Amino acid sequence: VCIRKATIDDLLAMQACNLLCLPENYQMKYYFYHILSWPQLLYVAEDYNGRIVGYVLAKMEEETNECHGHITSLAVLRTHRKLGLATKLMSAAQTAMEQVVFGAEYVSLHVRKSNRAAFHLYTETLGYKIHDIEAKYYADGEDAYDMRKQLKGKQ
Ligand code: ACO
Repeated sequence: VCIRKATIDDLLAMQACNLLCLPENYQMKYYFYHILSWPQLLYVAEDYNGRIVGYVLAKMEEETNECHGHITSLAVLRTHRKLGLATKLMSAAQTAMEQVVFGAEYVSLHVRKSNRAAFHLYTETLGYKIHDIEAKYYADGEDAYDMRKQLKGKQ
């Protein structure tokens, strides 16, 4: 399995992977919006047969004058979990966010309180901290942890 930058041709497969893995789904135009705006921030995991088995969809956000990255969505197919793929996808996106073009000071994301696998990945493996709790953030009424990780930032 290799991790590489996503191209326009990967978007349908990324959407298919998202549909299989998560209840939070997006229209194709939202994937296009990401890749057209921040082509450096979308990565896929591709297996030896050319199948997309994981992705990370990320973006930059500018509030006032502080600039930060945001992980919109991350998923790895069940058959390919616990191989370190999500860790590699996240690291690739985070590295791109802190480079000169973006110069992100931190990266944020939301995760369901009940999502133990993702929570472990974010806190234990990647060093994210709980910044806030957003009550009833998800459509089914579940709360989200609003998490952040400080990046090394602009030099
Ligand atoms: N329970 C406990 N810990 C787990 C689990 C689990 N089920 N799965 C992975 N981990 C741990 C691993 O052991 C590893 O820990 P370590 O670094 O201490 O060894 C760490 O998490 C990272 O493991 P990876 O192999 O990199 O993660 P993986 O490729 O399996 O993907 C993911 C993790 C993305 C959460 C996957 O389980 C998945 O796709 N789940 C469904 C979709 C999802 O929940 N996506 C995240 C939603 S939040 C968002 O999109 C912003």
